[in-house]
Amino acid sequence: MPDAPQLWMRHETRDSEHRAPIVPADAARLLAAGLTITVEDSPQRAFPTADYAAVGCRIAPAGSWPEAPADTYILGLKELPGQPWALRHRHIFFSHSFQHQHGSRELLRRFADGGGAILDLEYLTDAEGRRLAAFGYWAGYVGAALAVLHRRGALRPPLRPGSRAELDRLLAGTGGSPAPTALVIGALGRCGTGAREALTTAGVRSTDWDLPQTRHLDRAALLDHELLVNAVLVREPVPPFVRVEDLASPHRRLSVIADVTCDVASPHHTLPVYRHTTTWHEPVAAVSGAEPPLDVIALDNLPSLLPRESSAAFSADLMPHLAELGRSAAQWDRCLRRYHEAAMPSESKERHE
Ligand SMILES: NC(=O)c1ccc[n+]([C@@H]2O[C@H](COP(=O)([O-])OP(=O)(O)OC[C@H]3O[C@@H](n4cnc5c(N)ncnc54)[C@H](O)[C@@H]3O)[C@@H](O)[C@H]2O)c1
Repeated sequence: MPDAPQLWMRHETRDSEHRAPIVPADAARLLAAGLTITVEDSPQRAFPTADYAAVGCRIAPAGSWPEAPADTYILGLKELPGQPWALRHRHIFFSHSFQHQHGSRELLRRFADGGGAILDLEYLTDAEGRRLAAFGYWAGYVGAALAVLHRRGALRPPLRPGSRAELDRLLAGTGGSPAPTALVIGALGRCGTGAREALTTAGVRSTDWDLPQTRHLDRAALLDHELLVNAVLVREPVPPFVRVEDLASPHRRLSVIADVTCDVASPHHTLPVYRHTTTWHEPVAAVSGAEPPLDVIALDNLPSLLPRESSAAFSADLMPHLAELGRSAAQWDRCLRRYHEAAMPSESKERHE
């Protein structure tokens, strides 16, 4: 019988990253399923290291994963540190490296040099291609909440991670009349669902559009809303939802956009009226000074603002699949195949050197 899979949850390098891919309660379930789990100590993780130790995880110093046995699965969320160069483990994380993103050639090269592999969580899917674990719901929730708070003049940067209860108190406590008119595009997806629920919490009724409503886009109707939450997942070109020329429209009431999609670097950017994401220090950017002024909120790490809730939801989705690691489970086989497709140029270069 093969040895039990070894899972090693690493400390995240970005100090604003407070989320964890596995929360202590799910670590306990994985231990019960026979996995061995090592958790790196991490000063910023929203879940204390002691809670992982209490359920039976081994604890290791932050950043010590390069010393883990070669057959260990290293689990994380975001970018790896620059050292060591050659990566010899199988890393489960969001690598953002399969679509020629900035830095992806170098990262794939490091894996090719070390003989490791990426099991990219973005490509952990069922047989129909549906994602099995995602942070979308809470991204949409926070994005819509920030848009409402900004519209009410109640957003106080810099933003800091907090809890849903705190956010909901703000949403409930800053209401005035009348509530803004709000449109959610991509309303049926994960982010869109979260966005609609945040708007409901804030007492804002939303118009909900998904694919059928944008097929023949009624831009005048779109611009007639005061608040727009964009939550689409676009894989091929679609007509932009708001164009530069729309900013001067005398019928525009739109004054706040929360662009959860944040596709600023993509050729399929649906809101080409702005080009840069915003930050926790400056979450709001002015797009147009024409009346009414139009502001955009475009944070690409929204779920990190609710690290406990978003981690708990993600971990609940991911845990059953981690329990199947090392058992030639179809979802992990697909994930690995996707890595080899993306890595082919780096791997074949290695063969020729
Ligand atoms: N900013 C962040 O922190 C953050 C976090 C997570 C996800 N995201 C992004 O949010 C987006 C949505 O992610 P998701 O997980 O909700 O995806 P999803 O697949 O669950 O939902 C996307 C929805 O958009 C709809 N859609 C696609 N094209 C459309 C169009 N042209 N018009 C109208 N609706 C359209 C789909 O039908 C679907 O209902 C993605 O781009 C994702 O990368 C951002």
